Amino acid sequence: MSRVVVLGGTGAMGALVAGRLEAAGHEVVRAARSTGVDVSTGAGLDAVVAGADVVVDCLNRTTLSKAVAVGFFEGAARRVVAAAEKAGVGHLVVLSIVNVTDPAVRRSTGYYAGKAAQEDAYRAGSVPLTVVRTTAWFTLAETFLGQIRVGRVALVPRMRLRPVHPDAAAALLVDAVGRGPGTPLLELAGPEELDASSMARAVAGARHQGVRVVGIPVPLRGLRSGLLPGPGATVDDRTFGAWLSP
Ligand SMILES: NC(=O)c1ccc[n+]([C@@H]2O[C@H](COP(=O)([O-])OP(=O)(O)OC[C@H]3O[C@@H](n4cnc5c(N)ncnc54)[C@H](OP(=O)(O)O)[C@@H]3O)[C@@H](O)[C@H]2O)c1
Repeated sequence: MSRVVVLGGTGAMGALVAGRLEAAGHEVVRAARSTGVDVSTGAGLDAVVAGADVVVDCLNRTTLSKAVAVGFFEGAARRVVAAAEKAGVGHLVVLSIVNVTDPAVRRSTGYYAGKAAQEDAYRAGSVPLTVVRTTAWFTLAETFLGQIRVGRVALVPRMRLRPVHPDAAAALLVDAVGRGPGTPLLELAGPEELDASSMARAVAGARHQGVRVVGIPVPLRGLRSGLLPGPGATVDDRTFGAWLSP
């Protein structure tokens, strides 16, 4: 069994992954600012990475600013790679988004530009890397409701997605750790293509009655349909409807 550092191990996906890794018998260290590790300054990073066999990156910074997103994700990836190289870590695993390095997707929002720069920075390093790319998780439907609000009206972009159960994403990250180095890319998608505004409307109907969802057209192809997976993605067959109303 391995010693695994989960960066962002206190976050939504990081916590799921850390718990599953422990259940699989790994020794797990959860790293985040609240545990004394700051990937933006490098504070505590060398110390936490020393002695690790694997580092899993589940970090996040929610922003639409390209400068902020690129600064955070690219800067963190460079620091993590440098710390991992110094410590002789054998395997890095980073959580990413399907198609995010596609030019139309990466230029569609500042956030995607940041995530694409994160992948690039990891690939530029010398530590064996697995990029785990997933489609949007079902839980994102709840986030959509709060993003652009005018009173009780939520404006949600009409984007085509193949959303996936978050547990499947966590399981694939654990699988990536178990495989060890040598698998550069794993991709995951859900079973059905859905519209983001329909997902938000379904969540509003089930959990937030009184909130009205209005779908807004998206002019950019990268956002409208660029987040759909290619044919090589693993498909988890749990549906959004079953997740919402178990
Ligand atoms: N949501 C989706 O549908 C989806 C789909 C595919 C991929 N992803 C990717 O999944 C990743 C994780 O997302 P999430 O929603 O699980 O994130 P999250 O819940 O926002 O958690 C972020 C984690 O990063 C840590 N963190 C933030 N800034 C830090 C810093 N400067 N130094 C150290 N730790 C820091 C946070 O802890 P502290 O605040 O304590 O530092 C927290 O543990 C993201 O990169 C996202 O792009 C998401």
